[in-house]
Amino acid sequence: MATRSTARFITFEGGEGSGKSTQALMLQKALSAKGVDATFTREPGGTPFAEEIRNFMLFGPARTQPGTALAEALLFYAARADHVQRKIRPALDKGTWVICDRFADSTRAYQGAAGGVPASQLIELERVVLSGLTPDLTFVLDLPAEAGLARAEARRLRELAPESVTPERDLFEDRDLAFHQRLRDGFRSIAAAEPARCVLLDAARAANVIAFDIAAAIEQRWGKA
Ligand code: TYD
Repeated sequence: MATRSTARFITFEGGEGSGKSTQALMLQKALSAKGVDATFTREPGGTPFAEEIRNFMLFGPARTQPGTALAEALLFYAARADHVQRKIRPALDKGTWVICDRFADSTRAYQGAAGGVPASQLIELERVVLSGLTPDLTFVLDLPAEAGLARAEARRLRELAPESVTPERDLFEDRDLAFHQRLRDGFRSIAAAEPARCVLLDAARAANVIAFDIAAAIEQRWGKA
């Protein structure tokens, strides 16, 4: 049976509208097509418990009564604890590659760099919840904040149900441009600080061009899948 040493944990990170969900799904499909056992998952979410926290945070009570950035971080970490223990670790243990749309770097960027939670507190949460689980590879999709927000808004309008009269942005799409600029800087700093794990990608390019770079980075590290 395949072991953890052969199964890879790959995460996608970036601000709003950076296209990382599209790339994460494309990668999972491309790997599966090559016969690699690979699963797609996302954060916040990935398990029923974590999906409930997602709804609460993004569209539920927390949207109208936002908590402090530390309170947000604790909730995202509660969701992550369930996700890691019930889904990510078991998948890796049985040799399944895990492709995850957002992970701990999102907390560092959103609640840390943009929200103001000190890095030392987030490192404590990582120590307790992740106990050593680090992505093998992280793609950071980088886009100017204005461009990302415009893309996210266009997607929201496209997806609107015709009968909906009060379209809502989620908790974070609603924050001001300065927040999104700090967020972008946060992701870029993470990529710069951990070049062995992170690949920074220009997300303004066409999806198939970005996907080509992603496939090349994976092949460069681990050979042809
Ligand atoms: P999602 O719809 O997945 O955002 P996107 O389409 O931009 O990927 O919603 C997730 C939101 O939650 C997103 O705005 C980022 C935020 N978030 C945090 O603030 N901290 C976290 O730890 C995670 C995982 C997400």
